[in-house]
Amino acid sequence: MSRAIGSRYTVESSPQISGYHDAVKDVIASDEVLKLKDFTHHHCMTRFQHCLNVSYYSYLTCRRLGLNAEQAARAGLLHDLYEDCPKCTRKHLVDHPEKALENALESFKLTKVEQDIIVKHMWPIRKGLPKYPESVVVMLTDKYIALIEFCIYLKQSARSLRAKRAASRA
Ligand SMILES: [Fe+2]
Ligand SMILES: [Fe+2]
Repeated sequence: MSRAIGSRYTVESSPQISGYHDAVKDVIASDEVLKLKDFTHHHCMTRFQHCLNVSYYSYLTCRRLGLNAEQAARAGLLHDLYEDCPKCTRKHLVDHPEKALENALESFKLTKVEQDIIVKHMWPIRKGLPKYPESVVVMLTDKYIALIEFCIYLKQSARSLRAKRAASRA
């Protein structure tokens, strides 16, 4: 069962968000996306969890704004579809959207909007303005989610540091 951080609902079984699951069920169950569970992302979670977080909250935002929430959800799940996890260099930050798009196109038929969402999600680090409102939503959601994930990492690090200090005093 999968659940976006902060959500009360599991995406596979909750009737409250069945629209989300209907939109992504083939993508979220694919080997390519499930493989992302093997990679750490932003130090504190898997890349699968990060993509699910971005996809789910982009879906809710686009639905609220009357945009194409289904395409945002699908592309959100695929926006970081790459296996290797090199050091977070500027080159990696600039190059990985194209790698993710290339990988996604090998397995899925994507609309123009979905392709734009994936390849533009690193704006402004990667040049090329998002062309569609759904691309802007996913680009902003990715940054917001990354910030939350980094705060989770800081919290986990502080907790383990406190535990180490307490153990060394005992
Ligand atoms: Fe990314
Ligand atoms: Fe991302």
